[in-house]
Amino acid sequence: MQSADTPITPLIAGNWKMNRLPSEAQAWLRDLLARLEADADRGSRSELLLCVPFTHLAGMSELAFGTPVGIGAQDVSRHEAGAYTGEVSAPMLADLGVRYVIVGHSERREYHAEDDATVNAKAQRALAHGLTPIVCVGERQAERDAGRAVEVVLGQLAGALEGLEPGSAERLVVAYEPVWAIGTGRTPTQDQIAEVHAFLRDRLRTALPEAAEGIRLLYGGSVKPENAAEIFAIADVDGALVGGASLKAADFTRIIAALDG
Ligand code: PGA
Repeated sequence: MQSADTPITPLIAGNWKMNRLPSEAQAWLRDLLARLEADADRGSRSELLLCVPFTHLAGMSELAFGTPVGIGAQDVSRHEAGAYTGEVSAPMLADLGVRYVIVGHSERREYHAEDDATVNAKAQRALAHGLTPIVCVGERQAERDAGRAVEVVLGQLAGALEGLEPGSAERLVVAYEPVWAIGTGRTPTQDQIAEVHAFLRDRLRTALPEAAEGIRLLYGGSVKPENAAEIFAIADVDGALVGGASLKAADFTRIIAALDG
């Protein structure tokens, strides 16, 4: 986390990926809300978010309205509207009350050939409609082995930031997710996370001097109740993007509690 004089609200975001049926999701959310309510005397200081499949957004946004849990999407079209079969636009998400969207997740980069220009276009489109993009960056194993982790991550960040207006860019969230840590149970060392986050913050200071200190830097990749506290203790880690463990309300609640100490 940052020093005490920096008023940054941490963000803990779950990424359900392509899991759970819409008909199961609402009961799941009720369970999570009940667990948070039971913990309410501890009062989480984090902002909480669940990024769910498009099919779940309307129902879950309605149920989550007025609760401490926000609902986000996992992707957005780079286009505004029109003949793009199968795509979902930023205005459609905003119209549902969705405020966050993940862009450039490594699974999109890998299986849908999304490059930095696509990620940038999606982030810009999201920002233009009042959505907060959670831009994912992260190196592959071979890139880390070759000593290129920082270079790869900073390149992806530069691609995402290109042409962003300083005014809207302050809403940005960046998630460092090493590809080799996603869904594998393997996590970087604390020093490795600290190194990448320090470089990310530094680059943000150069690119967006006014906004840099307020931009949240999440860590993602095999975050679990068992390792959450040590990850949250790292400088410049302002929360987490949680995949597998966000599918279990009990684990997700323990991760939220870990941030509050
Ligand atoms: P994981 O996924 O927590 O299951 O490793 C993280 C992510 O892909 O966002």
